[in-house]
Amino acid sequence: MVQVQTLKIGMIGIGVGGAEILPAMEAMDSIDVVAGADIVPATLERFADRFPSAKTYSSAEDLCGDPDVEAVWISSPNRFHAEHTILAANHGKHVVVEKPMAVTLADAERMVEAADKNSVKLLAGHTRAFTLPIRAIRRVIESGKYGQLRALNIWSYSDWMLRPRTADELDLNQGGGIPYRQGPHQVDTVRLLGGGMLRSVRAQVGQWMPERPIPGYYSAFLEFENGTPATISHNGYGYFLGAELVPWGHDRQRYTASERASIRAQLRDGTRAEGDEKQALRIGGEQERIIFRRNEPEPWVPEDMGMAIASLDRADIRQARYGIYIHSDAGKQEVNVLAGREMGVGQRRAELEELYNSVVGGQPVWHDGRWGMATLEVCLGIMQSARERKEIRLQHQVPVPDGYDADFPIPEPA
Ligand SMILES: NC(=O)c1ccc[n+]([C@@H]2O[C@H](COP(=O)([O-])OP(=O)(O)OC[C@H]3O[C@@H](n4cnc5c(N)ncnc54)[C@H](O)[C@@H]3O)[C@@H](O)[C@H]2O)c1
Repeated sequence: MVQVQTLKIGMIGIGVGGAEILPAMEAMDSIDVVAGADIVPATLERFADRFPSAKTYSSAEDLCGDPDVEAVWISSPNRFHAEHTILAANHGKHVVVEKPMAVTLADAERMVEAADKNSVKLLAGHTRAFTLPIRAIRRVIESGKYGQLRALNIWSYSDWMLRPRTADELDLNQGGGIPYRQGPHQVDTVRLLGGGMLRSVRAQVGQWMPERPIPGYYSAFLEFENGTPATISHNGYGYFLGAELVPWGHDRQRYTASERASIRAQLRDGTRAEGDEKQALRIGGEQERIIFRRNEPEPWVPEDMGMAIASLDRADIRQARYGIYIHSDAGKQEVNVLAGREMGVGQRRAELEELYNSVVGGQPVWHDGRWGMATLEVCLGIMQSARERKEIRLQHQVPVPDGYDADFPIPEPA
């Protein structure tokens, strides 16, 4: 049997986002979860139950001082992303940081500098741009088979605003709200499909639920340097759900319609046990087991990232149940890009593979700190454009690196 070289990972901030990626880490022979840090003792106990051989730490600094840890996965609250990334880089650890990469561009810049200075890899991770259908669409666009990319549109209707939130998540200054938290999924995807180099953004932001003092909506018009247009929008208030838009879809994302109505009522009258609900989604919680450790394959539905449609000279391409649809002169053809891969967990492996291939295999990090900073710039641009009611010119965009996904097969209809 071939011995796989493992990469030893420590997680900083073992919350909901952390719970979401842990099954992929557990499923990969090449990843070894060796440590976890959190400030909540009960969370550390649950982490130790699940990873008995891993060490636990009550601070990010102590975890970063552990010589066994080679790379850290940072899923602490947004306001700590810069501090924890710089700490890890200064200790010589490679870093994957959750979206949004940081709360300000200045912080993102400091993170990039820290990674450069310490010669460690920095991966701006965990956006839906890493999912297989999006990468498949990019490969078809790149093949040139259907002509030039002409437009991109992504719409999302989710129940994101109704999910349990901590105080920091309800504070815009700490990176709360849909543009910071959900913007990176759509912006990363648009940039990946369109080549990366956006020129400008004009947007509006909406905030119309008094119990949630953060933006729950945005609409943005993005233009690439070459003039290609893109629109992105996300409504997180959960009345209509995008998941209904496909024939196999349903009127439920995290919650059914009646659960959503009762959550709204509880938020209005102040009776919601939001802290308990959030903890139930974290490691070892009842909901964590149901939502993040599903065994059965789940078909794609337009959830948080929404439905992405790429229009080319001679085709429209979008996500399908298990892959992509290509609508062309040959009719509507479906290409299954998930065959042979585990659903769910399989979809979440990409960042870990990218990290592993760069640290162990010497390949480039494709979604590096500068890539993440360019995506953050657009998310901040959405909010600035809304405040100033004008188009914002972007200054920090970078292209999709040459060679990205070169070994991802170009999807061919049967
Ligand atoms: N990519 C995704 O799909 C996805 C999904 C959910 C969350 N996230 C990201 O994960 C991050 C956390 O969000 P969440 O919903 O998991 O919140 P959360 O509150 O559940 O998780 C944060 C965790 O960090 C811990 N923590 C707080 N301060 C800390 C510190 N100083 N040191 C170490 N640990 C600390 C908290 O106790 C908690 O367990 C955010 O950046 C969010 O955008 C990403």
